[in-house]
Amino acid sequence: MSDDSTLLGVVILTRHGDRQGFYQDPDSYTASGTVITPLGTVQEYQLGQKLRSLYLNASSPTDLAGMSHDVVNASQISVSADAGGEGGVIFDSAVSLMQGLFPNTTSYNTTLANGTTVVGPLGGYQYIPIESVEPDNDISLEGWTSCSAFSDWTYEFYNSSAFQQKASENADFLGQLPPYLDGRPVSLENMIFDFMNVNWIHNEEFADAVPEEYLAQARALANYHEYGVFTSPEVDGIGNIAGRTVLPIILEGFASIIDSSDPTQLVYTGVSYKPFLSLFNMTQAAEMHSNLEAIGKTMDYAASVVFEVRETSDGDHVLRFNFKNGTSEDEFTSYPILGQDGDVPLSTFIDRLAPAAINSTADWCQACGNTKDRGCAALTKAANDAIAAHSDTISPVGAGFLGAGLTIVVMLAMFGVLLFMGVLTFGRRTASRKQKETSSVDVKA
Ligand SMILES: *[C@@H]1O[C@H](CO)[C@@H](O)[C@H](O)[C@H]1NC(C)=O
Ligand SMILES: *[C@@H]1O[C@H](CO)[C@@H](O)[C@H](O)[C@H]1NC(C)=O
Ligand SMILES: *[C@@H]1O[C@H](CO)[C@@H](O)[C@H](O)[C@H]1NC(C)=O
Repeated sequence: MSDDSTLLGVVILTRHGDRQGFYQDPDSYTASGTVITPLGTVQEYQLGQKLRSLYLNASSPTDLAGMSHDVVNASQISVSADAGGEGGVIFDSAVSLMQGLFPNTTSYNTTLANGTTVVGPLGGYQYIPIESVEPDNDISLEGWTSCSAFSDWTYEFYNSSAFQQKASENADFLGQLPPYLDGRPVSLENMIFDFMNVNWIHNEEFADAVPEEYLAQARALANYHEYGVFTSPEVDGIGNIAGRTVLPIILEGFASIIDSSDPTQLVYTGVSYKPFLSLFNMTQAAEMHSNLEAIGKTMDYAASVVFEVRETSDGDHVLRFNFKNGTSEDEFTSYPILGQDGDVPLSTFIDRLAPAAINSTADWCQACGNTKDRGCAALTKAANDAIAAHSDTISPVGAGFLGAGLTIVVMLAMFGVLLFMGVLTFGRRTASRKQKETSSVDVKA
């Protein structure tokens, strides 16, 4: 692609490194019991070094010259990592990657009043602030868990005629697997590719026993399975929930980068493979590039997408979408997206994707049909309390809301009421008790 544009900053999404001991529920995709391995930390560290050679390197054509290269300037970066079911693995991956991106340096030092200079431990190891994103209070990096609309979608997919046909075509193959898997039941729904892959990498006995073509076939089935689950025919479909909840981080990253008064130039988010699948679907990357199409779970560990935010000589903002498939590829490749030939105008990206973004917990509760988990209970209760507390002042409309109960359609309206009541409550809370009584009289009057 032509390089008459200037690089302003990068938004990076990265899959975690190699890990062991993994199980996820085939319906809800809630993960448990997993830990990063030394190999995984090496993969992420190398990816960090690669990113450094591209973006924090004065002799690279994509150098971010405005950024502090050696000692990190925390105001120039924004780093977050999923801290959910695979959280330890993803968070540790982010730590390893940051060590490669901002390695130890004796420049990380301080000179004391008595003239002594102290270098940080481990040769000037730098402690990069990483925001751990806990799924209980932030839906952005694991939008699919506790989401019944998403569970319904996976159920629908498993019951589709295409899926059933795929399952029956592969029934013989699947039937041959249990002896290699300590008798674990195998079906296309509960595709055990991950178990096989982990053992293929770490368990010599398993790697010797299982024919290589079995792993390849299981990989192909996992591809089919995961792409079907984590995508949707509509950009704003529930199957794309993993991409829709991470989009605000990406869009805010773009906004910070093009805002010349905001020093942020590098935004990094550590995730699992799921947001990649949705984003590859939503950006048409999968549709436009056959090698990205069959990505599924077979995307390598430490795979990474980098959105380069650029300014053209005409002053327009464009995006360049780069992908590297983990350690199996040495270099990032640029892939046109959204039906464009080259870089995609930022405005096109925003027009096409922003409407599908899930921007708040309330939006998420509504999209998923949840009134009890991940903050939805508090939102629902607050809406109810606000209505109950003021039902005298807002009836008969409020009474109507209460009577309608907690259906999802009404919930949306209630969030609106909550906002409205919130304004009233705020004004009163700051006022004295006497004024409060007066104001409530005023409201009644
Ligand atoms: C200066 O202070 C540091 C920290 O208290 C101490 O370790 C060091 O020995 C002092 N240096 C001198 C020359 O007194
Ligand atoms: C997204 O995935 C769905 C399957 O869930 C598929 O029907 C659709 O064509 C894909 N869209 C694009 C743009 O690749
Ligand atoms: C990524 O690499 C794996 C093997 O290392 C391969 O099976 C898969 O097809 C690759 N995916 C892409 C999108 O290149």
